[in-house]
Amino acid sequence: MPETITITDDRTGKQITVPITDGVFPASAVRELDPSLYIYDPAYMQTAACKSSITYLDGDNGVLRYRGYPIEQLAAKSTYLEVAYLLLNGELPDAAQLATWTYEVTNHTYIHENMRKRFVDGFHYDAHPMGMFVSSLAALGTFYNDAKDIDDKASRDKQILRLIAKTPTLASMAYRFSAGLPFVYPDNDLSFPGNFLNMMWKVGEYNIDPRLERAMDVLFILHADHEQNCGTTAMRIVGSSHADPYTSAAAAASALYGPLHGGANEAVVRMLTDIGHIDNVPAFIEEVKGGKGSRLMGFGHRVYKNYDPRATIIKKTAYDVFEVTGKNPLLDIALKLEETALSDPYFVDRKLYPNVDFYSGLIYQAMGFPVSMFTVLFAIPRTVGWLAHWQELLGDKDQKISRPRQWYTGVEARDYTPMAGR
Ligand code: ACO
Repeated sequence: MPETITITDDRTGKQITVPITDGVFPASAVRELDPSLYIYDPAYMQTAACKSSITYLDGDNGVLRYRGYPIEQLAAKSTYLEVAYLLLNGELPDAAQLATWTYEVTNHTYIHENMRKRFVDGFHYDAHPMGMFVSSLAALGTFYNDAKDIDDKASRDKQILRLIAKTPTLASMAYRFSAGLPFVYPDNDLSFPGNFLNMMWKVGEYNIDPRLERAMDVLFILHADHEQNCGTTAMRIVGSSHADPYTSAAAAASALYGPLHGGANEAVVRMLTDIGHIDNVPAFIEEVKGGKGSRLMGFGHRVYKNYDPRATIIKKTAYDVFEVTGKNPLLDIALKLEETALSDPYFVDRKLYPNVDFYSGLIYQAMGFPVSMFTVLFAIPRTVGWLAHWQELLGDKDQKISRPRQWYTGVEARDYTPMAGR
């Protein structure tokens, strides 16, 4: 069978034959056929906007791999910092590389004092931590003028290091501010997740439970990358204008903030709280199906038409966390919702399964994180995914500034009407 597609323009009779490679054919073929012909593809449903060798996702079969390694193996055996190295460099580090990388990240955790004293203190007392996080990312870039040297690899690597190391600091600072607690400085003797937990919770003496430290690390691994999702696409689009990585990451974090994306874990806990009791689950499901209430948050995915493999791991991690914290009372409602939805033709026919956000919020809540911090917890590890894609974008000769076209549906040219004539 030939791996080509032949398109005939019936208006002109012109015909082109284009190759299909890995299930993709180049849109430049359409330009060749007629330079004024465009593909209408809202939400990029059928568009591959880039080549990428970072993350592989097979939504029909529930497969997720970082640089070829199955997410299940990484979650079981690796650490977030090792995964970050893998995503950025393409290979797992050897012992010396991991030691150097860990040392470097660990020694870039501090932020400029003005960020805390002048910038963060200026927020309104009830500012949402994710809004604070988004703006802190952009503000952080103003402290590093070398960030604009995006053509210089050494500068790019430095900014990547800074961003990965400082996002837990920014995140905990946003939380401590909203809770009215004094800021805890990074402790570079601790692990990456341990330092974050310490900055979040330390009031007087604080001993990190190694099981919670490991759970945090697993959650960071699971959220580190997910190919061309909305936030990563924002990173690539803003990065394509050669904006600095802090500004680009702020755009990516803004995209993540939305309830249809990283904001869903927050929405799940609010939904479970509203449902209130397992007896109310059937009525809630009927409301969702009738289109009267909200969607079933934490269910469905643009790409996964199967159980999200991350949701399977998170569900198991939830039980590990509950052994330490006690069971989150919302768990029973979540389990009932899952069971009811997965046996209901509405969800089965539409291939709607639990996604990464369905159980993560329950873990975060059990660990003591306020709901408003959930998306921030997603953004910390996703920063490495954004940066891996940013780096790949800048090295990709096929890429230019992102600039889609439109299908103009407005009025034709007309003359300005003076006020008296309107
Ligand atoms: N609850 C109820 N119905 C749903 C849900 C849901 N969660 N998700 C999709 N549907 C239905 C839609 O109503 C639609 O039904 P129809 O064909 O009768 O109109 C059908 O399933 C297809 O839905 P789309 O909106 O076309 O699917 P899309 O791929 O655009 O949406 C999305 C994906 C945004 C994730 C959607 O499933 C959703 O809103 N889920 C809830 C929010 C959520 O959990 N987001 C987190 C995603 S994971 C992440 O970003 C980390």
